[in-house]
This record gives sequence, C-alpha cells and structure tokens, in this order.
Amino acid sequence: MTTHRFFGALALMAVLATPALADEPGPGGSKPPVAKTGEEVYRTYCQACHMADAKGAVGAGRFPALANNERLGTTAYAAYIVANGKGGMPWFKDTLSKDQAQAVLTYLRTHFGNAYKEPVTAEDVAAFGQKPMR
Ligand code: HEC
Repeated sequence: MTTHRFFGALALMAVLATPALADEPGPGGSKPPVAKTGEEVYRTYCQACHMADAKGAVGAGRFPALANNERLGTTAYAAYIVANGKGGMPWFKDTLSKDQAQAVLTYLRTHFGNAYKEPVTAEDVAAFGQKPMR
C-alpha cells in the first residue's frame, strides 16, 4: 500500500474510534475524566502545590496560601497568574480551557475563607490568553 493510502487508513480508523474517546468513559475507560467544576479543576491541577486546604506549603518551595487570600479579590491578578504563571507556578493557558479557568477561579474566590461573590467571566480569563476551549 502507498504511504498516502496508509495514512488515509489511519485517518479512517481515528474516525471510527471516536465514540471510544467520548468525554466521559464508563468504568474501565482509558481516558481520565475531564475536570469540569471548579473543585475538580482545583483537585486535578492546583492542590499538588497549594494543598487540599489551599493553605499552601513551605518546604522544597514556597507555595502561597490561596485560602483567605485578599489578592483573589482582584480577578485580573488571579486570572493573569493562572494563565501565565509566575516564579515556581506553571502557566495554565495551554492546559486549561477558558471554562476551566473561570470555574477554578470562581471556586477559589468563594471557598477557603474567600467570599468574593462576583463570578469570574469568560472575558476575565480571555484577557490573559486563556484558550477558548479544550
Ligand atoms: C507547581 C506548583 C503549582 C501549581 C500546580 C499551581 N501553583 Fe499557583 N502558585 C505556585 C507558586 C510557587 C506561586 C507563587 C509565585 C510567586 O509569587 O512567585 C503561586 C501563586 C499563585 C497565585 C497568586 C497568589 C498570591 O498571593 O499572589 C494564585 C492565584 C495561584 N497560584 C493559583 C493557582 C491555581 C488556580 C492553580 C491551578 C490551576 C495553581 N495555582 C497551580 C505554585 C503552583
């Protein structure tokens, strides 16, 4: 078979395999579930450094507390850091969708002793280069 046909066959297989790659595999699915809620995003992407109680840690590095953190009141600041990273914090604009960034920021602003009621909008996160969708 020619190279061209070979890749054609691969493409066809990818199309046929698509249902197996649906967002939410049942038990035994090979793809990890996509984090959707703010809490899921936090558990999946943030708590390793900022800790389950969001109180941060000092040890091999210095991970600031997000609990009772008045800087979260400034949406633009928090959205900027999540999109672009800072110091020892990785950037997430290539990892999280806009929905995920919005969800995790809104979650942090309303949990762990933070009480900033206004939800974080798509515009807030888009301003710093967060990707539109996954
Ligand atoms: C690899 C470790 C790591 C991960 C993962 C991580 N962070 Fe951070 N984060 C840091 C460090 C270190 C800083 C401090 C950066 C600095 O000021 O130099 C920080 C700072 C922040 C700040 C600013 C806090 C302040 O008081 O200025 C916010 C907000 C934040 N992180 C949110 C998040 C969110 C939301 C996630 C998950 C999407 C996340 N971080 C994932 C390490 C991490």
